[in-house]
Amino acid sequence: MKVSNSFVALSALSLAAGGLAASNSSSISALLSNGYVQLDGASSDAYDKAKAFVATLNNTEKITIITGGSLTGDHAWTALNTKDGVSGINYQFYVSGFTMANALTMSWNRDLIKSQFKAVGDEFYKMGYNLIDGPEPGPLGRVPYGGRTPETFSVDPYLSGIAMGEAISGMNSAGVIAGGRHFLLNEQETNRSSGTSDTTSAVYSSNAGDKTIQELYAWPFADGVKAGMMAVMCAMTRVNDTLSCEHNNLLSGVLKKNMGFPGLVFPDVNSQSTSYGSANAGLDFGSSSLWTDTILEAGIANGSFTQDRLDDMAVRNVLGYYYVGLDDGKQPDLAGTTEYRDVRGNHGKLIRKVAGESLVLLKNSNVSGLGLPLNKPRTISLFGAHAGPCMAGPNQAFSVQGTTSDVYQGHLASGTGSGQLSLPYLMTPFQSITSRAIEDNSMIWWLMNDTYTSTTDGFGGGGGMGGGFGGNSSGPPGISKRAVNLGSLGQGTALTPSFANYAENSVVCLVFLNSYSGEGGDRSELSDDDQDTMVTTVAANCNNTIVVVNTAGPRVLDAWVENDNVTAVLYSGLLGQESGRAIADVLYGDVNPSGKLTHTIAKNASDYPNPICTTADCDFSEGVFIDYRYFDDQNVSVRYPFGHGLSYTTFDYGDVTVSVKNKTALASTYPTGEVVPGGQADLWDEVLSVKTTIRNTGDLKGAEVAQLYVSFPEEAAQPTRILRGFQKVTISPGSKATVKFSLRRRDISYWDAKAQKWAIASGDYEFTTGSSSRDLRGSAKLTI
Ligand SMILES: *[C@@H]1O[C@H](CO)[C@@H](O)[C@H](O)[C@H]1NC(C)=O
Ligand SMILES: *[C@@H]1O[C@H](CO)[C@@H](O)[C@H](O)[C@H]1NC(C)=O
Ligand SMILES: *[C@@H]1O[C@H](CO)[C@@H](O)[C@H](O)[C@H]1NC(C)=O
Ligand SMILES: *[C@@H]1O[C@H](CO)[C@@H](O)[C@H](O)[C@H]1NC(C)=O
Ligand SMILES: *[C@@H]1O[C@H](CO)[C@@H](O)[C@H](O)[C@H]1NC(C)=O
Ligand SMILES: *[C@@H]1O[C@H](CO)[C@@H](O)[C@H](O)[C@H]1NC(C)=O
Ligand SMILES: *[C@@H]1O[C@H](CO)[C@@H](O)[C@H](O)[C@H]1NC(C)=O
Ligand SMILES: *[C@@H]1O[C@H](CO)[C@@H](O)[C@H](O)[C@H]1NC(C)=O
Ligand SMILES: *[C@@H]1O[C@H](CO)[C@@H](O)[C@H](O)[C@H]1NC(C)=O
Ligand SMILES: *[C@@H]1O[C@H](CO)[C@@H](O)[C@H](O)[C@H]1NC(C)=O
Ligand SMILES: *[C@@H]1O[C@H](CO)[C@@H](O)[C@H](O)[C@H]1NC(C)=O
Ligand SMILES: *[C@@H]1O[C@H](CO)[C@@H](O)[C@H](O)[C@H]1NC(C)=O
Repeated sequence: MKVSNSFVALSALSLAAGGLAASNSSSISALLSNGYVQLDGASSDAYDKAKAFVATLNNTEKITIITGGSLTGDHAWTALNTKDGVSGINYQFYVSGFTMANALTMSWNRDLIKSQFKAVGDEFYKMGYNLIDGPEPGPLGRVPYGGRTPETFSVDPYLSGIAMGEAISGMNSAGVIAGGRHFLLNEQETNRSSGTSDTTSAVYSSNAGDKTIQELYAWPFADGVKAGMMAVMCAMTRVNDTLSCEHNNLLSGVLKKNMGFPGLVFPDVNSQSTSYGSANAGLDFGSSSLWTDTILEAGIANGSFTQDRLDDMAVRNVLGYYYVGLDDGKQPDLAGTTEYRDVRGNHGKLIRKVAGESLVLLKNSNVSGLGLPLNKPRTISLFGAHAGPCMAGPNQAFSVQGTTSDVYQGHLASGTGSGQLSLPYLMTPFQSITSRAIEDNSMIWWLMNDTYTSTTDGFGGGGGMGGGFGGNSSGPPGISKRAVNLGSLGQGTALTPSFANYAENSVVCLVFLNSYSGEGGDRSELSDDDQDTMVTTVAANCNNTIVVVNTAGPRVLDAWVENDNVTAVLYSGLLGQESGRAIADVLYGDVNPSGKLTHTIAKNASDYPNPICTTADCDFSEGVFIDYRYFDDQNVSVRYPFGHGLSYTTFDYGDVTVSVKNKTALASTYPTGEVVPGGQADLWDEVLSVKTTIRNTGDLKGAEVAQLYVSFPEEAAQPTRILRGFQKVTISPGSKATVKFSLRRRDISYWDAKAQKWAIASGDYEFTTGSSSRDLRGSAKLTI
């Protein structure tokens, strides 16, 4: 699939992906001005103000605004100050390092997602930034090795979309403009630029068909537009061989026309290469050297560009300003990156709560005394560099252009690159578990890396005399090894340092693993031999081995996860500044785990469908079949399915009922509404509702994320079943809760590429509730 889209002048601006009111002006400059996109309430007021302001400006002033400049005097305007950061401000002193979005989404908690993005937005606002580079529904996660996964929500477009909507609402409510990125098909870092620095744009082209674009990659952006997103960053990627930022069909068709996006499109680094090509395709904010007065006026004079489009660009640049209320003049001035400002409030508390809810309990023993939660263990060993602080930190000055390792030798709480957190401090598991040991009168050993010996690295200090016969498995005759190591005179509490020896002497063995990545570099492995050997060595000697994993993206666990001595596994993304405390909260049962996987954990890395693409053309030939959609379709057995996650209590599911909410709506194959921000208005109307009940059958209060999966008639060409609803409910022991999933028209539609519209297929639908995508508990059928 290789399509050449040449840059076109205005006369050729017909929109292939339109399909809507085609008789109306096909000029993209008119989508707002002729009312094609129906604004209402706040967006309509903001549009009126934007139009009135732009009407006072001459072209020089308009060009100043769209190229990032400020105006003074009668037409005062503060430049858009863009700044990176999805889970906290990138490179800024005195701000919070929030839970990374890949972990946050594992909470499946809408309120927490919104609260966190509001808090992140507050810090941006108070530091004087008005346009945030984020939130980030792209990359979606096509490639499990994708370096930017920590910054993004989930490989499932529905879940990612719900998170995106909450994120936009949260950031907007803080009074800053959120810029959803990266639009579109920016699914890997490898070959994103031709050199070792980002001086050129992507060397590869992502090629995908309309169905794939609409149903997967663009889907969560529509949720953002619906929620009031007023800025979108186009990606470094080429799509069908045209730069995303100069792609008419993507920017003007999919984004502005199909989704009714009223705001500004701004480019990622080096993603704009032409003056008229970019502006005519739909880029609204860009380079002051490509968009000079001279160039743009010449274009207007000879028809390569138009006055209408320039006006439209200016309006789109200022619309968000009014929409989020920045025109009230109250935002503090832009802070220097090391300037002290008190912006954090009590965000640390929120971060601890979010991180605790984001941990997923993958496995837990049901044998009394083993597994989690911990109950005042007498002896604990902590293993792995991820248990404690690195030699220097918090975290390191990671490189944007690639990383050199997949394992960080210290506690990892952030991704790298432009999404890297500015951690003000970092609570590690070492600190938090030590605090618990103080309360419980536990004894703790730690061994971060077994390359230490008793004669190097100052080993032997602190805990006692060290060395001796500790760890000698023969030991003095008649005295068991345990007694020797724990009791002999002259030993202090020192053990000869080996994973095996520490493990053998501990009631609980906590092993900590991480995997890291970030912007500019994809991961080179989905599991790590050294780390896995550490787990198997510990488990061979400790019948209560508990593994904690914090990972950039999917982490394969099969080297040890079936070992009976591995009695519990806690798993999440990267948790931010309160990481250690949140992990201890769950380990000790102060927080009952309620997270669920937002991707599938395969048995083997080679089971995942899409490796990193290294050719010039990256064809998304798998279409909509990624992650669980692929595994289900191909009937591949997996280690832990998408949506999986245990609790310290248990839940039973009741019967499922489905009811039609709007018969008239279902009678029409295509939506009939006006285009509003988000797309045709009726795509967002509730058409069906599904109900079930959930009972807490255990002894503890806990929360369950109930999931709804829908199976479609053949005509819709969908995977076996796809996520189309979830509800997180907290239930007391013995109590029952009713769960309702509301299905919008878009949730039961598929993209009809021929009609270029969302369509409802006729036939049999199945609505299945589950505790994961493969732990299905009940279903109901409906024929439409
Ligand atoms: C174009 O859209 C506007 C606003 O919705 C409408 O008033 C006008 O009638 C439309 N024109 C055509 C030719 O459909
Ligand atoms: C545009 O307006 C600015 C500010 O009022 C003024 O300095 C400038 O001369 C004007 N430019 C043109 C081309 O009229
Ligand atoms: C890319 O090309 C495919 C195949 O021709 C086409 O279906 C799709 O619409 C194109 N994508 C975009 C964004 O133009
Ligand atoms: C219009 O003018 C610009 C700037 O001089 C030039 O690059 C472009 O080729 C011209 N286009 C046409 C159609 O004459
Ligand atoms: C514990 O789990 C095992 C394996 O899933 C199961 O066979 C056994 O019945 C469970 N025992 C109890 C007491 O729940
Ligand atoms: C272990 O202890 C026994 C008995 O004291 C001794 O013979 C042996 O050399 C020791 N082994 C090591 C590896 O230190
Ligand atoms: C121990 O440290 C070395 C050097 O940094 C590293 O190569 C090795 O992977 C580490 N071991 C584990 C289990 O992480
Ligand atoms: C489990 O740990 C015990 C020590 O507690 C050890 O004897 C046993 O071999 C281990 N089992 C496995 C499967 O590693
Ligand atoms: C686990 O190992 C410890 C110490 O080796 C032993 O006391 C305990 O009985 C074992 N527990 C189980 C359930 O095997
Ligand atoms: C994983 O897959 C690779 C490639 O197919 C294979 O060589 C390897 O043996 C597999 N690993 C396991 C543990 O099955
Ligand atoms: C993509 O990157 C790989 C690995 O760096 C390299 O071997 C390959 O040549 C690159 N592909 C292109 C099209 O430049
Ligand atoms: C039902 O759907 C139709 C068509 O989308 C719409 O006009 C009507 O307002 C809806 N009714 C209700 C009660 O939502």
